[in-house]
Order: sequence, then C-alpha cells, then structure tokens
Amino acid sequence: MHLHKYEKIWLIFGIMALIIFLSVVGVSAFHQGHTPSGGHMKIDPEKVSETAPFDQPGVHKKEDGTYEVVMVGKAFGYDPGKIQVPAGKEIMFTVTSSDVVHSFSIVGTNVNMMVVPGEINHKKHTFQEPGTYLVICNEYCGSGHHFMSTEIEVVEQ
Ligand code: CUA
Repeated sequence: MHLHKYEKIWLIFGIMALIIFLSVVGVSAFHQGHTPSGGHMKIDPEKVSETAPFDQPGVHKKEDGTYEVVMVGKAFGYDPGKIQVPAGKEIMFTVTSSDVVHSFSIVGTNVNMMVVPGEINHKKHTFQEPGTYLVICNEYCGSGHHFMSTEIEVVEQ
C-alpha cells in the first residue's frame, strides 16, 4: 500500500498525540492518584439515613462560626425541604443521594454539584445578599425531575 508523504506525517502526528494524551491521563490517574472532583468519600446509599452526617440532615452551626448544610437528594426533592441560613457566613453544603443521580444547583451562584448515590459531595458558598434562592436538579432523574426543587432562605444576621 502506498501512503502519500503528507498522509504519513499526519498519521504519525495523530498516533503520537494519542500516545502523549494517554500517557498524561495514565500517569495522573495511576501514578499521581488523581480522581474526579468530589473527594470520593463513600457512603452506602441504602443506609443514608443511618450514616453520619446524613442521620441529622439540616443546618448546623459550627464552633468556628461557619455553617454546614447537610442535605439528601431523592426522587423528587431534597431533605430537608426549605432551609434558612444567614447571609455573609461561609456555608459548607454536604450532599448525597439515596436513590439515583440528581444535582444540587443553586441558581445565580456557582454551586452546581452532582448528587450521586454512594458519594458525598461538598461545596462551600457564602451568600452575600439575603433573599430566597432557588435550588434545582440539573440531572434527569425520572418523571418528576422537572418538579425537583427547593428554596434556601438567606436572612440578614
Ligand atoms: Cu433529581 Cu432531576
């Protein structure tokens, strides 16, 4: 088979690019231990309601003055429902799912997490302005997906 000179050059270029790409992914995954974001904290999705911190969902004030919001996503809503948090304080959102993949996306902020059964995800956020913030599910999760939402009420200190 005759290959044109330029065809050969492009083939070699393509194969080299593939080798370099796979090497970078391989070294970072297996040698440096990189994983997708989220920390990969594991939880048994069958036992969410018995496993800390999801045995006590809700808003928790911590000793250092920050807050943690523990929430479980499930078809088709969030537990607890409506919550109230203060403006101007750092809030750590800790989420998991007890059934299928959902998301926890606070409209108008950069909080946009996947809520995955078997995984615990975290995201920190400080609400600067009081008001009512809408939380929606961005991952198609079933017939009620379009109705899966809740609200966060952010109040003045
Ligand atoms: Cu939950 Cu879509």
